[in-house]
Amino acid sequence: MLITNIEDLRRLARRRLPRALFEFVDGGAHDEVTLRANRDDFQRLNLLPRVLSDVSQRHQSVTVLGQRYSSPLVLAPTGVPGVLWPDGAMQAALAADRAGVGFCLSTMSTSSIEQVSRAVSRPIWFQLYVMRDRGLAQSMIERAQAAGCAVLVITVDLQMQGQRERDVRNGLTIPPQLRLSNIADLALHPGWVWRFLTGPKVTLANLVGTGHGEDMFTIASFVNSQFDQSVSWKDIDWVRSIWKGPLALKGVLNPEDARRALQHGVDGLIVSNHGGRQLDGVPSSIAALPAVVDAVEGKLDVILDGGVRRGTDILKALALGARACMIGRPFLYGLAAAGGAGVAKALEILRTEVDVSLALLGRGGVGMLDRNAVGPGPR
Ligand code: FNR
Repeated sequence: MLITNIEDLRRLARRRLPRALFEFVDGGAHDEVTLRANRDDFQRLNLLPRVLSDVSQRHQSVTVLGQRYSSPLVLAPTGVPGVLWPDGAMQAALAADRAGVGFCLSTMSTSSIEQVSRAVSRPIWFQLYVMRDRGLAQSMIERAQAAGCAVLVITVDLQMQGQRERDVRNGLTIPPQLRLSNIADLALHPGWVWRFLTGPKVTLANLVGTGHGEDMFTIASFVNSQFDQSVSWKDIDWVRSIWKGPLALKGVLNPEDARRALQHGVDGLIVSNHGGRQLDGVPSSIAALPAVVDAVEGKLDVILDGGVRRGTDILKALALGARACMIGRPFLYGLAAAGGAGVAKALEILRTEVDVSLALLGRGGVGMLDRNAVGPGPR
């Protein structure tokens, strides 16, 4: 199959993954209104080119939260990539490293902070859920510090798990409910079954050895009981007092929260609705971005996360004030389609699209993007 864009990788991922797993990656909460808005609102925004502006020299490198990357991209933290492809988190981290872009490891990753940090040439980011067991949260922050992580990301939009109804229908709950349809689903995807059975054992590597079990389902049910609805700004102050490097909050949509973050020593905000997987009915990330950018008045770095599928989406986000974008599903589709090579392909596609679109937009570099590059108005 010829792969020309991220949607092609999605189609290939759909073919290669058991349906329940594909829907776990692809789906969103409730009616998936926010999930769709993440795409629709990007597509509704126009770009407004300048002509005759000599774009023979172009660059797309950026510095975000002190890190220099060859493209304005960071792979978003995602749980259990090792279920999609053997050693999936490591494969994705290595592909990001080779491409010169950022990689953020999830608390729920299938490779550990130490394993990934040792394997790559540039420091990774680490994403933490502030768990009920603050001792465990603290030990993870200290491990990230000791491993030389560049940025600590606290995800703040998961007070509890959102309701993804496709997962419920597919029996993808904790613990999983094996149905006859799951068995038929697996029988139709022998390639995935073979890779899963012959690959390294999948588990939540960051939690192995912390006394909460070793296998994925035992640890996953422990983690599920650890989401803490009492987390507040006080806890951000607590994290700030432990973590020495740049600190970012992921899941901010409201400019009031953005202003509040300024008072708590936060260095970066990731404008995100968790890829439409948490509260359905919130604005798309791109719609929420401008007000957050305005609220922080350039005092901290803003990153857009959610709905990026094209290089032009990245240019729109940067034009509206983001320093960089995070991508979740685009790299997961690549991973599920072809492992590390698939992630590399996703990154190459986006890099080329950014380059071509910059030229056609009449801008020599991403630094030349401002609000004049978008609009007028929705189509
Ligand atoms: C996620 N996301 C996520 N976020 C996070 O902070 N910690 C996590 O462990 C996960 N896990 C996770 C698993 C899967 C399968 C998906 C699809 C997403 C959210 C992720 O970081 C990011 O916010 C979204 O994926 C961004 O939207 P797009 O790029 O997928 O449209």
